[in-house]
Amino acid sequence: MMNKSFLNNIPKNKKLVVELGIGDGNLIKSLSEKNHDYYFIGIEIQEEYFNKAKYNIKSPNVMLLNFSYEDVLPLFEDESIYKIISVLPDPKYIDKHYREKWEIFYKIAYKKLLKKGLFILITEITDELFQPVSNNYFYKEVDNLKQIFQSIGFIVLNDFEGYQENYMTSLLQIFNGDPKRIRIINFEFTKN
Ligand SMILES: C[S@@+](CC[C@H](N)C(=O)[O-])C[C@H]1O[C@@H](n2cnc3c(N)ncnc32)[C@H](O)[C@@H]1O
Repeated sequence: MMNKSFLNNIPKNKKLVVELGIGDGNLIKSLSEKNHDYYFIGIEIQEEYFNKAKYNIKSPNVMLLNFSYEDVLPLFEDESIYKIISVLPDPKYIDKHYREKWEIFYKIAYKKLLKKGLFILITEITDELFQPVSNNYFYKEVDNLKQIFQSIGFIVLNDFEGYQENYMTSLLQIFNGDPKRIRIINFEFTKN
């Protein structure tokens, strides 16, 4: 079971960034090496990925947790996280069919975010039959997601399609090879 003691290890003088589902940890590795004024917490449930990330990341400003982010996120103080990053969340945390379940989780994320904090969400839009995704379908799905996150309280700062170097991950590199069938939407949300 997860308990709150990990919170004591977070330096008070650094901005806190939390990445949900880090996979092999490539992104948090490069971010933590570039941004020494920030403290990074990466959460990954799969042991194999977690171990890989642990092995690869040596930066002192990183803490990795081998737990479910559903169990970890509620433990933070409200309005304590400067930035939450989620790149390619599993369908059960973003797919419209599971909305009722995941919406509750993002309401918690919203509570934990500082005012003016950022939530970076990068997710894929694919066709149910895995055909090329039309613009029509793409924008409909994007609007749908936008509305859900707005109804939680998030404010949309930015949304755009494609790959951005700042938040590249191992899986995004792979998806990059199939841009017609896997279209990537980037959201930058904030909170007032
Ligand atoms: C599709 S992968 C994306 C990984 C990475 N962000 C990337 O882009 O390469 C989703 C990741 O989230 C992890 N994950 C899924 N549910 C989780 C949970 N409840 N808590 C922590 N990690 C979770 C999975 O194990 C997997 O590594």
